[in-house]
Amino acid sequence: MKIAITGKGGVGKTTLAGTLARYLADKNYKVLAIDADPDANLASAIGAPKELIERLKPISEMKDLITERTGVKPGTYGGMFILNPKVEDIPEKFSIEYKGVKFMLLGTFQTAGGGCFCPENALLKALLRHLLVARNEVVIVDMEAGLEHLGRGTTGYVNKFIIVVEPGLRSFQTARQIKELANELLIKDVWIVGNKIQTESDKNLIRNELSDFKILGFLPYDPMIVESDKIGKSPYDMSDLLKLSLEEIWKNIQA
Ligand SMILES: Nc1ncnc2c1ncn2[C@@H]1O[C@H](COP(=O)(O)OP(=O)(O)OP(=O)(O)O)[C@@H](O)[C@H]1O
Ligand SMILES: [Mg+2]
Repeated sequence: MKIAITGKGGVGKTTLAGTLARYLADKNYKVLAIDADPDANLASAIGAPKELIERLKPISEMKDLITERTGVKPGTYGGMFILNPKVEDIPEKFSIEYKGVKFMLLGTFQTAGGGCFCPENALLKALLRHLLVARNEVVIVDMEAGLEHLGRGTTGYVNKFIIVVEPGLRSFQTARQIKELANELLIKDVWIVGNKIQTESDKNLIRNELSDFKILGFLPYDPMIVESDKIGKSPYDMSDLLKLSLEEIWKNIQA
């Protein structure tokens, strides 16, 4: 099962990615969580301690690895480099594990320098494709709002493409934009998870405004989720309400 999570800034992508990863690891699934957001904080949503997180360097910053695998130094634009670099061994070498969740940090895709045609991106894309194709696990990707780094060639392997929204028109607008992009990338199904839900009318607002989307479920607004971020714990360990909702969402993901 391959799950990609996107949505407007601050809606709760990382909260969903991190807590779903923990939930599934608790259910004895093999779980690989991938942080593909340049502003990376998925590891802390999983609850990994600071010392463990600090050990992890983003793949995009591993200059020697990029040079070794693509044949040219990062920062080289144009010219010849290996487009299909070897990546199979990277997940085992450059991941950490916490409470049964294996975790990887991709780092930032290059956007400058002539349309991202550079060795850094070649390695990251090959790696992401490999993680989404070959890994026999539940793979959860925490993304930024854009879909650029998924692109053609990787998206085909995502089973559930989830857009997180909160009860607010701005996040719906972003969801519609993402859906358009998704259509261009030939992604058939995009699903909604509504987050920060306080009332039944919050759910209805989402159902009504996004009536052309399929809804996987809702996560409650819970002050314990905010609190968990303040003390560096996973919301998964602090909110029982959240666990119940994740159960429902997982059931619908599999349906
Ligand atoms: N259900 C919830 N109840 C209460 N607070 C929440 C809930 N979900 C998320 N939050 C809080 O909202 C903030 C944003 O959440 P999160 O980091 O998961 O969003 P994001 O979409 O990943 O953000 P970004 O776009 O910055 O990556 C955090 O402070 C988080 O604790
Ligand atoms: Mg995030």
